[in-house]
Amino acid sequence: MSHVTVVGGGIIGLSVAWRLVHHGLSVTVLDSGGDEGAWYAAAGMIAPAGETAFGQEPLQELMLESARRWPAFAAELSQEAGHDLRFDATGAVDVALTGDDLAEARRLWAYRELRDLKVQPLPPSELRALEPALSPRVRGGAFLPDDWQVDPRRVVAALRAVLGAAVTSRRVASLPEGPVVVAAGLGTAELTGLPVRPVKGLVLRLRGEPGVLRHVVNGYVDGRHVYLVPRSDGEVVVGATQEERADFTVTAGSVLELLRSATDLVPELAEFELTETVVRHRPSTPDNAPVLGRLGPDLVVAAGHHRNGVLLTPVTADLIAGLVVGRVDPLLAAFSPGRFA
Ligand code: GLY
Repeated sequence: MSHVTVVGGGIIGLSVAWRLVHHGLSVTVLDSGGDEGAWYAAAGMIAPAGETAFGQEPLQELMLESARRWPAFAAELSQEAGHDLRFDATGAVDVALTGDDLAEARRLWAYRELRDLKVQPLPPSELRALEPALSPRVRGGAFLPDDWQVDPRRVVAALRAVLGAAVTSRRVASLPEGPVVVAAGLGTAELTGLPVRPVKGLVLRLRGEPGVLRHVVNGYVDGRHVYLVPRSDGEVVVGATQEERADFTVTAGSVLELLRSATDLVPELAEFELTETVVRHRPSTPDNAPVLGRLGPDLVVAAGHHRNGVLLTPVTADLIAGLVVGRVDPLLAAFSPGRFA
């Protein structure tokens, strides 16, 4: 085998293609070339602790492994492409507004500690020393030193740059001949029959004075969840809603919900400009873990990353490219497409 077709040019498909090139293979990526993918909305959280879900132990292990691979992945891609990806390892903070929110956050912290994730609980005074713009109403929080961020739009631009003419703009209605990796996000369902469904998310982008926020903030706000991802240029990404819907409507209510949560935590954000509202759909499976593995002699799939596409990019790229050249990593076992047979 010397040539592989990758169907899907989102952050997963492009990264798999990039790693296949490193294995000495020639690659064609088939993609619309547009910005339909979930990566376009994604805030870029690399959040093995912040995105912990109860009862998802194998996924948690994969998330941790991928987070460990992010610094080298970012450095290598950034150097090869000559692009700044805005990879930032400053860390994140969990912030709870009310006593009930703090109780909810503490339950999660206890679970995370059991999973060997680093969580450093902080009283409000120490939390505000880390993030001075937080509301004085905040009841408590924690520092998550191993939760980072990157700018997914920059990552995709860098991958497109290093892959160059290998990325072709073409809609794919059926599987091409020869060795194929399907990393087509929601399109994976139609191409393979796997149960990948859309989970709608609205994300806002605000812009204001740089430095108002210093860390990624995971907010627990009157029973609602919000995250704030500040970039060095003054952009703050606010996310995200989560609905079992396939439409692209930006509803007034969902914008209100995100902005109310964001400004309850950081009142100064009310002065920021609202520059973008964007809806995309997380490609999700029945157990909300990705499908990674072989579906046939010439067919490998990497899809269904749900809330963790950006975080899981490096490990997915390494494991799937390895699988194509015949290396079966034991980490793949829990994510086999066969579990939905
Ligand atoms: N990773 C955050 C989200 O999917 O909203």
